[in-house]
Formats: sequence, C-alpha cells, structure tokens
Amino acid sequence: MIISKYTSKYDIEGLKFAGKLAASILEMIHSYIKPNISTGQLDQICKKFIENDIQAISATLGYNGYKHSTCISINNVVCHGVPNFNHKLKLGDIINIDVTIIKNGYYADTSKMFILGENIIGKRISSVTQECLYKAIKIMRPGVKLSEIGSIIQQHAEYNGYSIVRNYCGHGIGKNFHEPPQVLHYNGYNLFNDIILTEGMCITIEPIVNSGDSATKILNDGWTVVTKDKSLSAQWEHTLLLISDGVIVTTARKEEDLSFIK
Ligand code: MF3
Ligand code: CO
Ligand code: CO
Repeated sequence: MIISKYTSKYDIEGLKFAGKLAASILEMIHSYIKPNISTGQLDQICKKFIENDIQAISATLGYNGYKHSTCISINNVVCHGVPNFNHKLKLGDIINIDVTIIKNGYYADTSKMFILGENIIGKRISSVTQECLYKAIKIMRPGVKLSEIGSIIQQHAEYNGYSIVRNYCGHGIGKNFHEPPQVLHYNGYNLFNDIILTEGMCITIEPIVNSGDSATKILNDGWTVVTKDKSLSAQWEHTLLLISDGVIVTTARKEEDLSFIK
C-alpha cells in the first residue's frame, strides 16, 4: 500500500501554511462561543472566514454530501455533529469544532474543545483527551511504530477511567482529505499496524474519549455520531508532519504550549 511522503520544501511549506490557516479558524471562533449562539451561526462564521479571510476551500463542504464547513459536536455527540440554526449553545456545554481546509492543494484537519462556563466533569474529560493527543505527539519521530500511538492514547484514557472510541480513527492527509494509513487510537490490529513512521508522512491524530462506554451510534440524519449510553465525549485533533528529527504540528495554535516537543 502506498503512503505519500511529503518531503520537498514545497510540500512542507504548503502543509505548514494550510495548517496555520486551519488553526486560525479555531483561534478566530473562540470569541463567538457564548450562550445562545447556534451551531448553524458558528458554522456560517467559519465558512465566511475560510472563504473571505484566509481564502481557502472547506474540505467538508460537499464531502460525501455533507453541507457544512465545520462539524460541531456537543456533550454526548462523539463527532460529525451537524451545524443547525435551531441548536443553541448553553452554559455547561462541551463543544468540539472540527475544521478541514484546502489551501493551494494542501489539506489541514484540526479540532479542539471549548467549555462554555463551568463544567468540572466536562473540563476533566476534555483535558485528559488533549493529554492523550499530546502524549502521542510527544513520541512521534521517524523509527517509531505507528501502533505505539494507539497504545499510548488508550493507556492514558483508560488510566483516567475513560474509554476510547474505536469506530473512528486518524488518517493520512496531505494532498487528499483521507489517505492511508488509518491511525488507531487504541491498541488494536489493522493493516497498518507494522508501519514505521518515516520522514514525510503526514497524519492526523484525533482521539475521541468517552466518559462511559466506547460504543457509538449514528443518528437518523446519517451524520451525527453519539455515544450509545449518552455519556460525555471529547475529541482533539492535529495534523502532523514527520520530519527527519521529529514532528511538525502543522495545525498548532498560538495559545498552545507545545514545548514538550524537542
Ligand atoms: N474532519 C473529520 C476528520 O477528522 C471529517 C469530517 S467529514 C464530514 O476526519 F463530512 F463529516 F465533515
Ligand atoms: Co481527521
Ligand atoms: Co477533523
């Protein structure tokens, strides 16, 4: 199976630029996360920003018939939450916004959690999920087995009493939205398990952590994925490019402390 390698200066700059722009969407939307704004409005704001401010293309708009520029997944929604003008944010919500853009032919895919008001339980699952992502990023360098990513993520989630969603995984990305390999967030087995990370590989890591059971189901809209047991769910995602001596987080935000990367 062919895994793309993005090693030219042109590719690296292209991926970094797309990543920086994708990150800027999540930075921009932060100040709009307030009670009573609808997820449909948040999506519209992101769409306009993508088109007018960063002059990029939303990769989700039209993707397999999806009609929005973001996925907005709240509380028990695991992923692929569909923006809706009737669904308004309320205090205590934990909200994931996931954006994927294309700039000059290069993709960047990233998501983060927002906590609206005080929610200690929500804040804890969000923090642990971000730690899962960071622990995985920390071990990434050429020579590491892809499967080590899943092991470290699962270990941290379960140590904290949570479960890892198995029905969705990270993926190769670069000049396409979803490329091989699949990136498991648990210690499982698939076709890609024995892959060794090498320079130029570009992948997402996007662990989804549930407070209850890992089982999920898709609602009748054909998109929205929820926890079967209605428990809380959190997700964080970055796009990552392997370089000779480590990793570049293409979608790093200004507010993030990524100093753990050597
Ligand atoms: N951004 C998601 C991912 O991380 C994919 C969303 S596809 C959509 O892979 F159609 F639901 F938007
Ligand atoms: Co992704
Ligand atoms: Co995504």
